[in-house]
Amino acid sequence: LVHRAVGDQLTCIFVDHGLLRAGEREQVERDYAASSGVKIVTVDESERFLKALAGVKDPEQKRKIIGREFIRAFEDAQRALVKEAGEAGEEIKFLVQGTLYPDVVESGGGEGAANIKSHHNVGGLPEDLSFELIEPLRSLFKDEVRALGTELGLPENLVWRQPFPGPGLGVRILGELTKENLDILRAADLIVREELTAAGLDRQIWQCPVVLLADVRSVGVQGDARTYGHPIVIRPVVTEDAMTADWFRLPYEVLERITNRITGDVPEINRVVLDCTSKPPGTIEWE
Ligand code: XMP
Repeated sequence: LVHRAVGDQLTCIFVDHGLLRAGEREQVERDYAASSGVKIVTVDESERFLKALAGVKDPEQKRKIIGREFIRAFEDAQRALVKEAGEAGEEIKFLVQGTLYPDVVESGGGEGAANIKSHHNVGGLPEDLSFELIEPLRSLFKDEVRALGTELGLPENLVWRQPFPGPGLGVRILGELTKENLDILRAADLIVREELTAAGLDRQIWQCPVVLLADVRSVGVQGDARTYGHPIVIRPVVTEDAMTADWFRLPYEVLERITNRITGDVPEINRVVLDCTSKPPGTIEWE
């Protein structure tokens, strides 16, 4: 939408914060650039985020740190772009974000709305934000955004891509965000995504967070040996607008394949559990 309005004055910054899923960076770069023709600059900021998040377990603290570091990453990217432009370089004033209405409401921004969680792009923004924010989708729900995407002629795989939150795997590890925990979760998440796609369920399911209970351990037996591993949670949901949701009844055979593959291939995980809670009382993400 913004590209239509300002053309090549737009530069998209894709921040790899080290909290992405397996293969995600490559997929976004490829699909997004190919279909939209916009200029995308990828910045690898994983060390910055992991350093800022080291030792942090509280969900709101994680969200605020992630929101702040996104802005710091955009500030650095703007400095690099201005430098690159040389003589013609001017300060970049505007930051465009894809904020949707539920992000605003859940961050306590609606009339009389409680702060359920600070979405990284709303409640997680730092106070010293110097960019002027442009948020063309701020009053829309996801189904309306999808209708807009279709109207703009974007390809189906982008329009129907399942939502993935800005804080990424950072709000799907209950416990510390270490490289090791992230790698465990990435391995399990990839298996879940592969099996859901193979079962043809991608369009029926809104999204399926996979959550690592890094601070929980239970006793298991794998091979002939005792294990003391972590549980992983599968949270498939269906919803119209993400404000309320129901859990998706995954076929038993799919659950069985997912469980067998995860416990067989990811040694640190010895239990797979299914979250069958609607929203409310649960939220979609665990943090
Ligand atoms: P919850 O967990 O609040 O999630 O039921 C509702 C929807 O919002 C997504 N979500 C986020 N998206 N930044 C985002 O870009 C965030 O901070 C954030 N928190 C939650 C979540 O994946 C679900 O689709």
